[in-house]
This record gives sequence, C-alpha cells and structure tokens, in this order.
Amino acid sequence: MFSIINPRQTVLVTSRGDVNIAGKTMEKESIITLDWHTPLSFKPMLYAIVVGKSRFSYKLISKSKVFAINFMSIKNKKEVIFCGTNSGEFTDKLKESGLKKEEAEKIDCPIIKEALAVIECEVVDEIETGDHVIFVGKILGKRLKEEGKRIFHKDNYEFTTTKD
Ligand SMILES: Cc1cc2nc3c(=O)[nH]c(=O)nc-3n(C[C@H](O)[C@H](O)[C@H](O)COP(=O)(O)O)c2cc1C
Repeated sequence: MFSIINPRQTVLVTSRGDVNIAGKTMEKESIITLDWHTPLSFKPMLYAIVVGKSRFSYKLISKSKVFAINFMSIKNKKEVIFCGTNSGEFTDKLKESGLKKEEAEKIDCPIIKEALAVIECEVVDEIETGDHVIFVGKILGKRLKEEGKRIFHKDNYEFTTTKD
C-alpha cells in the first residue's frame, strides 16, 4: 500500500499525559512519528492525526486531550526513525532522541525546538477507524518557525524531500 499512497509528509506529534504504570499514576511525555495526518476545516480550524490504538501516544492524548504537530526537516531523518521505532512506554524519547524540548504556547504539551513549524491542538472529537483512532484537533496555536526542506516518507526507512 505504501508505494501507492506515499510519499507523505512525516511529522512528529508530541504529547504529555497521566498514565497508570504498575498501579501508580505518572505523568509521561512522548513523541510519535506519523505519516497519517490532514487539515480538515478552516472555520473552525481543525487538523486530524491518525494514531494506532496500541501506541503509547494514544494513551497520553486520550487522557490529556491535547497534542502538538511538529513539522520536521529531512535533516532530522535519524530522529524521525528513532521516534517511529521505539515506544514511549519503555523509552523517554524526549531525552533519548537527541531532540530538544520546548513548551507549547497555548496547550500543556512539549514541542520540539528543531521543528520548522508547529501546530498546537485541543482534541474535539475522537473517531475509531479500525485499528487506528482519528483525533480531531481544534487548532489553538500555529507558527512557521523556519523555511526548510521538509521530510516525506517513501517506504520502510526511505525518505525524500522537495526540490526547493
Ligand atoms: C515513517 C513512519 C510513519 C509512521 N506513521 C504512523 C502513523 O501515521 N500512525 C501511527 O499510529 N503510527 C505510525 N508510525 C508508527 C509509530 O511512530 C511507532 O509505532 C511509535 O513507536 C509509537 O510510539 P509510542 O508508542 O511512543 O506512541 C509510523 C512510523 C514511522 C517510522
């Protein structure tokens, strides 16, 4: 299927929420690599992400009801693969990916310093679609931090970018 639907722009979605680990409630943060995301509406401004139900980030976003979409450069290919192949359940990706953490402006959520652009969202709807869930986010903040060559996923660990 990927050879039909790709390339797609790959983003890193950051989240923070309370989870129950061994009977204790703990606040955790994570970064998930996502190819499946889309704008939905201008008025209100809505943006959707599609997250597997088995993902640790699914638990965090279901709980906190906020997430940030970090648009990354092709230069961050290594970090994008790291965040897409390790689970936040066992790895602190905000520390171990090598990416630097900042705070979102409009929501209680980490964002990534190296991101070229960021969208901050509050979840207004959650739709089950098979083994994934669509989180519909109302955009509360957005900024283009820097122009740059974005990362697009082709297949497996192959990525590409734009010409200019
Ligand atoms: C290039 C790439 C794209 C991905 N796209 C998605 C996606 O759109 N939705 C999804 O749920 N998982 C996607 N994944 C898989 C998750 O990023 C991966 O399972 C990750 O380890 C989940 O992290 P978490 O358990 O901390 O949430 C993708 C992985 C890669 C490498």
